[in-house]
Amino acid sequence: MNKIAIFASGTGSNAEKIIQYFNSHSSVAVDLVVSNRKNAGVLKMAEANGVDTLIIERSSFYGSTNILNTFKERDISYLILAGFLWLIPEKLIERFPKKIINIHPALLPAYGGKGMYGMNVHKAVFNAKEKESGISIHFVNAHYDEGELIFQAKCPIHSSDTPATIAAKVLQLEHQHFAEVIERVIADQ
Ligand code: GAR
Repeated sequence: MNKIAIFASGTGSNAEKIIQYFNSHSSVAVDLVVSNRKNAGVLKMAEANGVDTLIIERSSFYGSTNILNTFKERDISYLILAGFLWLIPEKLIERFPKKIINIHPALLPAYGGKGMYGMNVHKAVFNAKEKESGISIHFVNAHYDEGELIFQAKCPIHSSDTPATIAAKVLQLEHQHFAEVIERVIADQ
């Protein structure tokens, strides 16, 4: 069984789709949901779905090997970032080469980097009068949004769109594709 941990800082709608997708899957299981915010909606959602949760603090995430030990004990082999806003430390990248996958709500390399998350991204895309946006799923390296691309999907932006409607279209694409892309990466490795 390939066990995965999902990292999320917010609502966790992508995390929920992934949990549902891999429920009773023959070779992939969501073992843990990790969040840096103790009030994040994703934690309640995980508990309601019977998935264990872990709240992390900045000092131990960056300054200790606690999380590596937890992942080892739980035999976790993939880390999925679904709306997680902290930079992943080098020790995790070294320990999980090509096994940490992030989703970004724009067509990287445009509209990525520190501070580019959630509505900030959609407002920037809207302000630039882009004709399309979309999603990027990529392996994670030590820099925000710069790892090797795995998959992209696009949606058109019309003159009637707003940052909120762009966000809704992009989220729909994320829900449609993320779990399947994870499944494919794991199956191919
Ligand atoms: C998603 O749109 C994801 O792409 C984005 O946060 C949202 C989380 O939504 N991630 C980033 O912006 C990372 N830079 P969710 O909590 O409903 O899954």
